[in-house]
This record gives sequence, C-alpha cells and structure tokens, in this order.
Amino acid sequence: MKKKFLDLIKKKNKQKIVSLTAYSKNVASILDNHCDIILVGDSLGSVLYNYKSTREVTLNTMIEHSKSVRMGIKKGLMIVDMPHNTYRTPNEALKNAKQIMKKTKCDGVKLEGGQKIIKTIKILIKNKIPVMGHLGLLPQTDKTFKFKGKKKLERNNIIRDSQLLEKAGVFSIVLECVETSLAKLVTENISVPTIGIGASKYCDGQILVFDDLIGLNPINYRFVKKYANIRNEISKAVSHYSKEVRKIKFPNQKNSY
Ligand code: KIV
Repeated sequence: MKKKFLDLIKKKNKQKIVSLTAYSKNVASILDNHCDIILVGDSLGSVLYNYKSTREVTLNTMIEHSKSVRMGIKKGLMIVDMPHNTYRTPNEALKNAKQIMKKTKCDGVKLEGGQKIIKTIKILIKNKIPVMGHLGLLPQTDKTFKFKGKKKLERNNIIRDSQLLEKAGVFSIVLECVETSLAKLVTENISVPTIGIGASKYCDGQILVFDDLIGLNPINYRFVKKYANIRNEISKAVSHYSKEVRKIKFPNQKNSY
C-alpha cells in the first residue's frame, strides 16, 4: 500500500479524518488545504444534474468531473465513486476502474456494498487499485432512504460486511446513515478508518457533500450542518451586480479598455 494510504490509516484512534466531496477544480483547490480525502461523489447526479437518483450517473460524467477536480488537488487523497452499473461483474469493474484511474489520475475508487461485491473488490486491490468501501445506506441500490441499524439482521450484515471489506484490503470504509451504537461498534472492531456521514461522532472521520455544508443545496437532512449560507451571499452579490448594470455604474472606466 502507498505511503499516502498508510499515513491515513495511522490516523485511526489518533486524529479525526476530514473529508468532503468536490465536483470541480476551484472547489477542490480550496478543500485541499483542509481535507485528508476529497471524494468525487456520484451525489453529483442529484446535486448538480437534478437526477432522481445516483443510478443515472454515467462513467463519463464521473471521469469529466474528476479530471477537473484533479487540477485542484496537490496534497489530499482524491477518490472517485464508481457509478451504478459500472461494477456488475469483477471484469467490468476492473476495466472501468482502470479507466477511471488512468484518465483522472485519482488515488483510488469507492464502491457501494459488502459481501455481494467482495470478489470484485479483491480483484481491484490485487490489481493495485486502492478501494474505499461504503456500507449502511447505499444510494445506488437501496429502495428506501432510511438509516440503518434498527433491525438485528441489518446490524449483523453491516458488522459482517465491514469485516469482509477490511479483510479484502480496503483502506477505509464510508458508513452512511448508520445508527450510533452500530457505527461505534464497527469503528472499534476494524483496523481501517471509518468515515461517517450521518453515522455519529464515533467514526474515525467525517464526510459531507460540500454543497450541503455551504448551504448551496437547498436541502435539510438531519445529518447535514450548514456552515454558511452561500445562497444568501450569492444572491446579495448578484443583486448588487444587477443594480449596478441597470444604473450604468458597472462597467466603469476602470473596468474598460
Ligand atoms: O456520492 C457521495 O457524495 C458519497 C458521499 C456522500 C459519501 O458517496
């Protein structure tokens, strides 16, 4: 495993891991000063493209956004989500993951699921493609978007899957919308870091969708904390601009050639 990944794993039980999503260069270059992991998440399907689900996101869309993000990152680990229907078989996954790695120069890929895709994950890792796991709520395949860990079977499956992923060699696991005591149990029982989103303070790190954090995406999920109201800031700036254009105050001499 590359040093970058070993350094990340060493943070477990010592220092929280900070992660956010980015879909473009300018945002990525800001996040790179503050984050350990920058994820080009397939959440861009709903956040940017207004798709009903992430299932509509294509490989090509992920690659193009990742190429932009790559230009903004110098320090952090850049991970790219493999979109739905790009890893249905181990061979399909390997072909597509190789393409993502080659075209985007990212550091690794993220796949949703546990036992069902373990053979696929092992093949990617055997081919030197670093993999981040993703358990709990799985937006690509789940029918209902409810938190996980209420039912005993659900809990046991997540515990089993986290151990399978660890054994397969993933460098980290995202836990999405996982009940607090289950997220704590999983985190305490595996040697690789867990990165939570709606999965309590007990995970080794946290991730949020950047557009949610800055209040650009007008949604209100329980697990999101809005650290800014960028919609207001944009609105103020654009209103000021529009007034100045209408009053012929902009552009002035200084802005003209
Ligand atoms: O697609 C995404 O942005 C994600 C994170 C929310 C973990 O998978």
